[in-house]
Amino acid sequence: MACIAGLGVASLLQSCTSSQYVTKSEIEGEYLKVLLTEFSANKKYVLVRAEQLNFPIYLYQVTPTEYSAVWMECTHQGAELSAHGEVLTCPAHGSEFDKTGQVMQGPAQSNLRKFKTKTDSQYVLIHLS
Ligand code: FES
Repeated sequence: MACIAGLGVASLLQSCTSSQYVTKSEIEGEYLKVLLTEFSANKKYVLVRAEQLNFPIYLYQVTPTEYSAVWMECTHQGAELSAHGEVLTCPAHGSEFDKTGQVMQGPAQSNLRKFKTKTDSQYVLIHLS
């Protein structure tokens, strides 16, 4: 609500953006790599962007070794979703998805695209195929 109320006020917009926990990543082979240190007890998700990708990926820490990764393109008409904690919302027509990409509210009827993930000692690896 503070983000919506603050539209037009630059300082509030910046705080809205920073609460999205955006991180940039590089693609290596079939994987997008995200440092495990991006996550903490108070930070359970990041939006991962890479130059080659048209949309960010919402990466959520389910457990310290288990992560959920979903493509942030709305399945209704293709708008980019916004993350509000554990809910992904569509600014175009109001669809909502949960942290694993399941539709919670339409008009979208299909769940979000999901990616397999695995971890090594340093990274969460998002399999892009
Ligand atoms: S494009 Fe997302 S609800 Fe229509």
